[in-house]
Amino acid sequence: MKKIIFATGNADKMKEIREILSDSGLEILSMKEAGMACEAEENGATFEENARIKATAIAARTDAIVLADDSGLEIDALNKEPGVYSARYMGEDTSYQVKNREILKRMENVEREKRTARFVCAVCAVFPDGEVHTVRGTIEGMIGYEPKGENGFGYDPIFYVPEYGCSTAEMTREQKNEISHRGKALREIKKVLMNR
Ligand code: IMP
Repeated sequence: MKKIIFATGNADKMKEIREILSDSGLEILSMKEAGMACEAEENGATFEENARIKATAIAARTDAIVLADDSGLEIDALNKEPGVYSARYMGEDTSYQVKNREILKRMENVEREKRTARFVCAVCAVFPDGEVHTVRGTIEGMIGYEPKGENGFGYDPIFYVPEYGCSTAEMTREQKNEISHRGKALREIKKVLMNR
């Protein structure tokens, strides 16, 4: 069975990729299961670059196929901030309650039509022969006027999806995975993996 290492320490991401690749006939290992650690510095200017930096750093140390992702929130009225700095915005250790409150404050005078935003996820696959594939998934939405919902994580409470009439923090995990940037990118990379 072909082995894949997914370069993340995040248990939720592992669960999601295992669900999506469950019928692929591929063995998916977490970094921990592979006995590896990821020390690569995410200093790329784009989500794609960061995913590639992580994946190639791990691939140099294994014969398995390596996948890595990078994701974040782009807010149009804030010049696409926090973007690749989504996790580091206002400092890694600042709570999302504080980060979300600050974003809502910065958006106070932004009219409804200009509150557009998107979650972006890039997933990079590096194959043992050195071939590299990168895909991107996005979900379009709007920045709300107050945090809503208890599910999800990060910026979910302020990310409103008009078609669903709620924030991504008000969706179930399954609902969100079906339409999310990460779900889309993982299903796209699955096609790449199955065609090899
Ligand atoms: P990373 O891809 O694990 O580096 O995460 C990037 C950061 O983007 C996260 O820490 C969150 O702040 C934000 N982010 C990415 N995806 C989501 C999401 O689905 N909901 C809420 N925040 C997200």
